[in-house]
Amino acid sequence: MSAPSPRPGIMKIAPYVPGKDSIEGKVTIAKLSSNEGALGPSPKAMAAYAKAAAELHRYPDGDSTNLRAAIGRHYGLDPKRIVCGAGSDELLNLLVRAYCGPGDELIYSQHGFLMYAINALGAGATPVAATETDYRADVDALLAKVSDRTRMVCLANPNNPTGSYLAKEDVRRLHAGLPRNVLLVIDAAYAEYVSRNDYESGVELVDQADNVVMTRTFSKIYGLGGVRLGWMYAPAAIVDVINRLRQPFNVTLPAQVAGVAALEDIAHSDASRTNNDIWLPWLSAELTKLGLKPLPSVGNFILVGFGSKERAQAANDQMMNDGLIPRLVAGYGLPEHLRITIGSEAEVKVVRDSLARFVASS
Ligand SMILES: Cc1ncc(COP(=O)(O)O)c(C=O)c1O
Repeated sequence: MSAPSPRPGIMKIAPYVPGKDSIEGKVTIAKLSSNEGALGPSPKAMAAYAKAAAELHRYPDGDSTNLRAAIGRHYGLDPKRIVCGAGSDELLNLLVRAYCGPGDELIYSQHGFLMYAINALGAGATPVAATETDYRADVDALLAKVSDRTRMVCLANPNNPTGSYLAKEDVRRLHAGLPRNVLLVIDAAYAEYVSRNDYESGVELVDQADNVVMTRTFSKIYGLGGVRLGWMYAPAAIVDVINRLRQPFNVTLPAQVAGVAALEDIAHSDASRTNNDIWLPWLSAELTKLGLKPLPSVGNFILVGFGSKERAQAANDQMMNDGLIPRLVAGYGLPEHLRITIGSEAEVKVVRDSLARFVASS
């Protein structure tokens, strides 16, 4: 008898490596490796979280009723078509488990969020990458990968780590080109940061079709990555499927109450957006002046090109030496780049100074 072995596909997974959260032997000045909100959580969310401490012996509401109602009010959506999860990661994983299995294919774009391919392999399905054009998802390349085996297309819009986005016409063209039995998952984790008038998050498409789901997160503009909270908006039939598959108490009590309070603290999320609106273009312009190549971004991060793998590594080392933690993105097929989260004013200025020293000395 041989030892237990996992299902096919699992051992092909290269485990996800999260952004570093400390620097050995150094005080961290800014952690800019995971695109967490620049201003931290809302004080109101922190107060709601603290208040939940006295109730920790209680199981949470398994349907996240108040939270779904608050999301519905905030975004103008029917709460019955919302499912909450332990981060959008959980929902993205459940969607793949529900709709993809051995012999099925999941299409994603070349530099798309890493979890899509990991989820596909975990379900025994085959991840299929479509090439990008200028670091942006390419609708024709995605559609060219569709076959009889395709069950799902996962699109991060905006995309992490490139920061690029597809205009609503392009997403609609992608959807129009898919067979009806293929599920289009639009991962809009960074939607709250986007202010382009040719962008839509996916709500409109979910309302018009029975094969589109949009996922969202509280980990970015709401600064609640630590509690693990996300949600999806979907056709009723897909909501029903995911509610059958998910754990009965998948969202913790502190996460539910913190989420409601975060949504209600409009001043805080507005301040986070304004911080990004100011310091994203500023950092981009400063890095361009230094001769570096920041890609246009609509998220709360910037992907910076250094021209070679060695130079990107050296820039990473310089930043780490200065107490700053960027993200190496070789795992995304981008070894010549670093991804840097847009922090507070003080933080982006230290980033500029650190990279200015790097350029001067290299
Ligand atoms: C595009 C994208 N989707 C999903 C996630 C997962 O977010 P959550 O914290 O909600 O699981 C991230 C996190 O970085 C992301 O960048």
